[in-house]
Amino acid sequence: MSDTIRLVVDGEEVEVPTGSTLLAATARAGADVPTLCHDPRLDPMGSCRMCLVEVEGQRRLQPACAYPAMEGQVVHTSTDRVERHRQVLLSMYCADHTLDADGLPAERALGNQLRAHVEAFGTGPTLPPIGTPRAGREDPNPYIHFDPDSCIACARCVRYCDEVEAVSAITLAMRGSSTTIATADQVGLLDSSCELCGGCIDTCPTGAMSEKRALGLLGADEETVRSTCNFCGVGCQLDLHVRDGEVVRVSSPPPGTTVNDGNLCVKGRFATEFINHPDRLTVPLIRGDDGELHEATWDEAIRVTAAGLMGVKERYGADALGFVSSSRCTGEENYLVQKLSRAAFGTNNCHQCAAT
Ligand code: SF4
Ligand code: SF4
Ligand code: FES
Repeated sequence: MSDTIRLVVDGEEVEVPTGSTLLAATARAGADVPTLCHDPRLDPMGSCRMCLVEVEGQRRLQPACAYPAMEGQVVHTSTDRVERHRQVLLSMYCADHTLDADGLPAERALGNQLRAHVEAFGTGPTLPPIGTPRAGREDPNPYIHFDPDSCIACARCVRYCDEVEAVSAITLAMRGSSTTIATADQVGLLDSSCELCGGCIDTCPTGAMSEKRALGLLGADEETVRSTCNFCGVGCQLDLHVRDGEVVRVSSPPPGTTVNDGNLCVKGRFATEFINHPDRLTVPLIRGDDGELHEATWDEAIRVTAAGLMGVKERYGADALGFVSSSRCTGEENYLVQKLSRAAFGTNNCHQCAAT
């Protein structure tokens, strides 16, 4: 079997690896097929029907995210039939959603792909609201808020929790239009196997899963700063969302763009309060003859530290010293600590805490 196949998308011939989905092939052709339940890290589910496209020879429209690309296929991503389908589908989603004054799916939290699709493609006939009461639930966990009225039951959060985190803390519950997200036995997330990674927030296409502390931040002017997490040595990339000089929330760069592939742990995503904490040291402190700590410059602090270490070496020999570096440092910083130990002080007593 050949490693690649050729097909035609919107009149353009494209070549993709054998086993690709139609979505990958349409992307290769530069077509922007809308999706909701698709996440490149997850097995395709094909549940939301947002990505349907026309394949010549097929009676029905087919879900691009789940349908295999095949040699010689001819695919159309924006025919009248496809556009009509998108509008009717979005009408149905709107009938089952809380709408704002403009008739758009209400933006309860930052990031709402459903709302963006309604704005981009419009809706078809206005359908009467379904109005199914969904079980709301108060969850005392400090980080994750779930809004059942914004949920489209796409199961991205459930599949992420299962397939990426291997935790399976949440599941689809109930049936039909009452379908919602719950934990086993309806316990709160803190009493479940949830690790509070927050990945369900990032993958949710409607904001139904959202970050509690960011709930009031809709429309806020934010600056986004790409940074490296400092909680361990993996080097996950973070997007810090900054307002008025303070980090108000953290998200991951999109899947496929950085080493952490769109994932973060509880510390990287939520543990940011230390950044502006008043107890945090911002200048070096040196204990004076009076026994008290006094603010100093970095030059003074380095001079005092070096003199102390040299004094120990002169009195007891270099092997009386030991250098331990941290897994929170970068590889380059750890290299410099062993260099300091061996080249500057002449001892091999150097270690890194993650090496044990
Ligand atoms: S926070 Fe992580 S572990 Fe908890 S439910 Fe969401 S995806 Fe699963
Ligand atoms: S909470 Fe979000 S990701 Fe989960 S099923 Fe509902 S809409 Fe989909
Ligand atoms: S994105 Fe393809 S069916 Fe949902």
